[in-house]
Amino acid sequence: MRFTWILAGASVALAKPNKGGLDTLVALAKPNKGGFDTLVAFGNSYTDNGRLGYYINNGGEAPPPGEMHDESTTTASGGLSWAQFAAESAGAKLMDYAVSGAVCSNQISPRSFDLINRTFPAILDDQMPSFQADVAFKSLYPHRTAENTVYAVWIGTNDLGFDAFLSDSQIAGKTISDFVDCVFSVLDEVYKTGGRRFVLLNAVPLELAPLYAHPNNGGTLDSQFWKTKSQYNITEYSQKIREYSTSVNTMLEYGVPVMASLRRRWPKATVDIFDVHSLFGDIYSEPTKFLEAPHNVDSYYHQCEVAGSPCVDQPGSLDGYLWFDELHPSNKTSAIVGQNFLDVVAGKSKYGSRHH
Ligand SMILES: *[C@@H]1O[C@H](CO)[C@@H](O)[C@H](O)[C@H]1NC(C)=O
Ligand SMILES: *[C@@H]1O[C@H](CO)[C@@H](O)[C@H](O)[C@H]1NC(C)=O
Ligand SMILES: *[C@@H]1O[C@H](CO)[C@@H](O)[C@H](O)[C@H]1NC(C)=O
Repeated sequence: MRFTWILAGASVALAKPNKGGLDTLVALAKPNKGGFDTLVAFGNSYTDNGRLGYYINNGGEAPPPGEMHDESTTTASGGLSWAQFAAESAGAKLMDYAVSGAVCSNQISPRSFDLINRTFPAILDDQMPSFQADVAFKSLYPHRTAENTVYAVWIGTNDLGFDAFLSDSQIAGKTISDFVDCVFSVLDEVYKTGGRRFVLLNAVPLELAPLYAHPNNGGTLDSQFWKTKSQYNITEYSQKIREYSTSVNTMLEYGVPVMASLRRRWPKATVDIFDVHSLFGDIYSEPTKFLEAPHNVDSYYHQCEVAGSPCVDQPGSLDGYLWFDELHPSNKTSAIVGQNFLDVVAGKSKYGSRHH
């Protein structure tokens, strides 16, 4: 797919030299739904396509500047990530800096990870410096312009969850507003490098994820991602994470127009908010419209012991499930997110709102 695109671009460039600039040529070469040819992504396991694996295999170090990790086709969705679906379908190149387990900033709610003997690589601390170093390499970014590259940020699941805000494990004094400020800082950092097309994916209804749901609604008791859940009042914690994720989304909904339009924080840029919270809510309440039969939105496909293994896959196709495991959207859900992402970028999705 990628190589086809490069060849197509080259042949058109030869056929029509210097007419309307590279962007026009690229657009002619491969018209695609979103009108972009590179998707740069930051985030956590919802988006990671193999980067945490690189850190694990390389003593907790990021790929050196100018190098990407090997791309995996078995992500936390049990299949592809939403960004892989979106890039594939748009005929775009995916440059994915997302790392499983990541938060927005390790200066706010750091979480440590034994296998790399350090904190999970966060967006501001790790993913952004990698991206900013990489853009100097023509091998990775041969023709990046303001128009042909879209930047997606999907972060919050770990920041708001257990071992972070939900368990009051953030750095003392840090708040959920600091988290939202961090998300805006991510845009500042990309903006500095010339990025002008941003998409912020908001927080999903985490209280519906089996990890945070009450057992009466298909939620887990103790699980691999929250080994002590049964010691908590789950009614309260489920409500708390609902408070946190809806509050973050309201801060984004009200904050992005203020930052983008009123304060002109990112002149000439567009910021789309992709309301995945509503999309997940719709999948949850009308599964037959989205998932294959027999559908399942309360439970999850890949069920593991608290220790992390062994795991048993549940009956039916993974494509009937909203959740792959107790925290992660399934392959099917990721495909739906990827498809809707392209509609948001194209400016024609009911889940998208554009600000500039
Ligand atoms: C994920 O979904 C895609 C598209 O529907 C499908 O081709 C692929 O087989 C699925 N992968 C898994 C592991 O279910
Ligand atoms: C883990 O990192 C700390 C410093 O942060 C270091 O003192 C320790 O030796 C490291 N442990 C291993 C097993 O590498
Ligand atoms: C758990 O919290 C809910 C909501 O605050 C409360 O109604 C319930 O009594 C609590 N359960 C226990 C066992 O404390």
